[in-house]
Amino acid sequence: MDLTIIHYPHPTLRHVSKPLKRVDAELHDMVQRMFELMYQHEGVGLAANQVDLPYRLFIANPTGDSEQSDAEYAFINPVLRGGKGQVEGEEGCLSIPGVNGPVVRKEKITIEAYSLAGEQITAELDGIFARIVQHEVDHLDGTLFVDRLAPTQMAEVRGLLEEFEIDFQSKRQRDELPSDQQIVARLEKLEALRT
Ligand code: CO
Repeated sequence: MDLTIIHYPHPTLRHVSKPLKRVDAELHDMVQRMFELMYQHEGVGLAANQVDLPYRLFIANPTGDSEQSDAEYAFINPVLRGGKGQVEGEEGCLSIPGVNGPVVRKEKITIEAYSLAGEQITAELDGIFARIVQHEVDHLDGTLFVDRLAPTQMAEVRGLLEEFEIDFQSKRQRDELPSDQQIVARLEKLEALRT
């Protein structure tokens, strides 16, 4: 399966991801491909639905450096707990390239998840890593960072988002993108395999 990063307003970005029940070799390959794509596009995190997969899974490398493989994480079925403080910081997203804006997030957060090897992970995070996991778990719930912008900030990026919407519609008209029904059918098939 060839994975690519999908862009706003692709409907899979609004899909609420289902917990994984099965981790197989093909899923390992998909995660490997997600890391390649993340580095290729100079990201620090990537959620499964950004590559058109319906699984509750995201990857991260807060250093953004492919050489630092000890900073690579894959979080399966992540759940965020607790959370302290609030902090504003600039965010962007590989599914909305060129759009940035300030988002208020919790300063510290606890994540519980499983690794690809099936080990339970519990970590209390702060700084950039805390921001990444909140951004990525949002993705898995079908939420984009632009949904969290203040109205004045949203007004600033509205024009850029409209360009993405126009581009999506013209690709649809040229049959370069599947229909909504085809997208839903494909996600359901993938869910039946592993969730
Ligand atoms: Co994103």
